[in-house]
Amino acid sequence: MNEDKTVSDAKTVNRPAVAVVGLGTMGAGIVEVFAKGGHPVIGIEYDDAAVERGRGILQKSTDRAVSKGKLDPDGQRALLERITFTTDTGEAAGAAVVVEAVSENLELKKSIFAKLDAVVADDAVLATNTSSLSITEIAAATAHPERVVGVHFFNPAPVQTLVELINTVHTAPAAVDRMDTLLRSLGKNPIRCGDRAGFIVNHLLITYLNRAITLYQNGFAGRDEFDAAMVERAGYPMGPFTLLDLVGLDVTLAVVERLWDESRDRVHAPAGLLRQLVAAGFLGRKSGRGFHDYAEGATTPPPVPDPVRSRIAELPEAVVLPHLNDALRMVEQGFASPADIDTGMAEGCRMPKPFDVLAERGPAAVLAGQLAIFDETAEPSHRPCRLLTELGRSEDPAAALAELRR
Ligand SMILES: NC(=O)c1ccc[n+]([C@@H]2O[C@H](COP(=O)([O-])OP(=O)(O)OC[C@H]3O[C@@H](n4cnc5c(N)ncnc54)[C@H](O)[C@@H]3O)[C@@H](O)[C@H]2O)c1
Repeated sequence: MNEDKTVSDAKTVNRPAVAVVGLGTMGAGIVEVFAKGGHPVIGIEYDDAAVERGRGILQKSTDRAVSKGKLDPDGQRALLERITFTTDTGEAAGAAVVVEAVSENLELKKSIFAKLDAVVADDAVLATNTSSLSITEIAAATAHPERVVGVHFFNPAPVQTLVELINTVHTAPAAVDRMDTLLRSLGKNPIRCGDRAGFIVNHLLITYLNRAITLYQNGFAGRDEFDAAMVERAGYPMGPFTLLDLVGLDVTLAVVERLWDESRDRVHAPAGLLRQLVAAGFLGRKSGRGFHDYAEGATTPPPVPDPVRSRIAELPEAVVLPHLNDALRMVEQGFASPADIDTGMAEGCRMPKPFDVLAERGPAAVLAGQLAIFDETAEPSHRPCRLLTELGRSEDPAAALAELRR
């Protein structure tokens, strides 16, 4: 880091200055994270009213931290004093790191990256907090795509320690390493992956949810018995249909469509029922109805009647084994490590760690089960991936898996 980009007063000794563009839910949270870590932060919005809104989010969030005893009033004052606000993107010029957290719009993000690229120093790192856009495309709007990374914070950013740290085919390893070190110094737990739709957590979570809807719409099991089986037999914090209503069906559909656009793997083909519910305006809890009806005293039947012949006994295997196959495929393709996938699923959605589940069940049994699913469905995306086949057929599958996880 250049000396001239560090502020050296008593409160911010050698902490590089950071700029955050967009002070909405995520951006204001990210500002708070950096300011709490002692960094001088420049918060950038497009007009004064938006600046005031962002300032208000920060005030409220830090007030909450004080009332919960997580921050003392002096700490809050010092934190807020480290933040300056502006409507001029040019003021990011002195920042060693810029995080963009504006609305999810590719053209908007590209124009902001082009502006930032023109003003920041050569060794600055530019990061986007996008959830679903191509970071590679955003980076392509700059003259220095090698310094562009993704930093996908989880909501609320001041509380959630997990951050997905994403490189594109262009990113310089040094830019990722610097971001990694910075995030760790703030108490965050970065996990690394490449630039693919859904990164690690949403890719695995949303693929699982889409698979659950597909089975349900095809009469595999009833809504409530499905939910109960995933909680009681697989240790998931809630069943897929309860979770879908919480996440929002429109949000889920947008991610599935993005996965499908990118992969054209039928496992990501949006379930017809998901499309229907979204078209009907049944978006989940936020609209009062999704897979469940949340109206007071509602007795609305589930969107698909309970099946004539339920295959509930085959859960959770019918969804867990393909989920493990998906996780192994990520490793096989060099997209993410077993440890980062485990951390992502545990911290990002409180789901069991896929590689712990694989170890518990044993790769040979998982391979046999997945082969049976593939045989029955003749679905190419259910074919056990090469890594699962190798592990399951190795002389000592448990040792081979332990070696992979090392
Ligand atoms: N909300 C989440 O749970 C979540 C989680 C992870 C990542 N994300 C991603 O973070 C980003 C922001 O999401 P959010 O939920 O905070 O949205 P939001 O709507 O709360 O905030 C977006 C902010 O960007 C500002 N903005 C728009 N145009 C701008 C411009 N030209 N210059 C400066 N600021 C501008 C808006 O005024 C608004 O305050 C998106 O890319 C989203 O995909 C969201």
